[in-house]
Amino acid sequence: MSAPHGRRTQTPTASHTAIVGLQWGDEGKGKIVDLLTAEHDVIVRYNGGANAGHTVQVGAERYALHLIPSGILYPDKACVIGNGVVVDPEKLLQEIDTLRQRGIQVGTNLRISDRAHVVMPYHKEQDAALEEYLGAKTANARGNLSIGTTRRGIGPAYADKVRRSMAIRVGDLLDADYLRSRLHVICTLRTAELEALGVRTAPLDPDALAARYAEFGERLRPHVDDSVYALHDAMAAGRRLLFEGANASLLDIDHGTFPYVTSSNCSTLGIPAGTGVPGHAIGRVLGIMKAYSTRVGAGPFPTELDNELGQRIRERGREYGTTTGRPRRCGWLDLVAVRYSAMVCGATGIACTLFDVLSGLDEVKLCVRYRLPDGSETDRFIPDAHRLEGVEPIYETLPGWSEDVREAPDRDSLPEAARRYLARIEQVVGVPIEVVSLGPERTQTLVDGRRAAALATA
Ligand code: IMP
Repeated sequence: MSAPHGRRTQTPTASHTAIVGLQWGDEGKGKIVDLLTAEHDVIVRYNGGANAGHTVQVGAERYALHLIPSGILYPDKACVIGNGVVVDPEKLLQEIDTLRQRGIQVGTNLRISDRAHVVMPYHKEQDAALEEYLGAKTANARGNLSIGTTRRGIGPAYADKVRRSMAIRVGDLLDADYLRSRLHVICTLRTAELEALGVRTAPLDPDALAARYAEFGERLRPHVDDSVYALHDAMAAGRRLLFEGANASLLDIDHGTFPYVTSSNCSTLGIPAGTGVPGHAIGRVLGIMKAYSTRVGAGPFPTELDNELGQRIRERGREYGTTTGRPRRCGWLDLVAVRYSAMVCGATGIACTLFDVLSGLDEVKLCVRYRLPDGSETDRFIPDAHRLEGVEPIYETLPGWSEDVREAPDRDSLPEAARRYLARIEQVVGVPIEVVSLGPERTQTLVDGRRAAALATA
């Protein structure tokens, strides 16, 4: 039975953890979430949608998850899709089916907020149409202004959330009549908007959409819940929450490289709004950072290596999108950016991933400051795409290392140059590196300097 919902006290000694990407996404958060899941009871998504892609390797099995928290791979954990997420029901049901076919239990262990907003097919159409429009209209003017979105309908779905009268929430899918009545209004307006973008002539059919999405609602019904009370009940019962950030801090709608960002608060600042759990409940924030930088889609990237070296990192790091398969842009580690993200997210520790990818380079570079167009220097990040375009990275060059580090038993056994690289990152960012990932396997991980063999078998 759940606890009474009278006055509640939050545990001030917060035992809850957040995991968040400190760059432009694809930092390998899935593996770290998977690693920390053992110490937590409830894994919570608070932002984004099917634009995210988390890959988790468990032995020989590789799982690519987009909407469902990777904690689902543990039968004794609960997973929550919070109200801040935008849910594509079709994709979610496909993900559930695929997991079940592979023997993973997906039942009441998956809770979905009734207030999460729904990504509808017209959101995806609108996303793609706007991208095409911006690409075509602006290609010959001031560069291509398309964002390079995943075309998963994320921006239009969040835009409808803000517009209120145009939005459908997961709870609405459970009431077919109400859903149909809303869609009748929405489809009229949306058809006109799509026509203005020049993509559609046949009007959207509200009855057909309502029937289809009510059916999705019926399939999702056993999972739909008031996730805010579910999370507070869990906390009151002493259960530990792990918040799994999707996308990453530099893509945050408020704090990222606007307008080349996604449409949610992907930094830890999105947690309170996206789950109903107050920020002070989170005691530990593990920021995930690759040993280098990558970015998918358009937008400024000061340390980008648009050359053979960048290509080499791409191949060694298998830097191709989990969600769209697009090749990722690669570059040196930008510590100006990482220090900013760590500050905004309140990172208490860092997990450095894909560290093995840097083996075999004669030298490695760390960006520690930017040179501005007027010749002055700054160690402050500029979360504005237009102004960030103009900066030039200032690097520190360190010796590289040739050894394969994947099986290193502890941090002290890493080559000296590799240890220096990690130590310099800690010094510049001012946050300790708690985890170093040396390969895709759970065991290829150093936690607090030691190999995570015990965790892997826990
Ligand atoms: P959207 O989220 O599909 O609207 O895309 C906006 C921008 O964020 C594009 O540049 C995407 O490539 C980027 N993006 C969104 N989600 C992720 C992610 O999980 N990893 C990396 N980039 C992402």
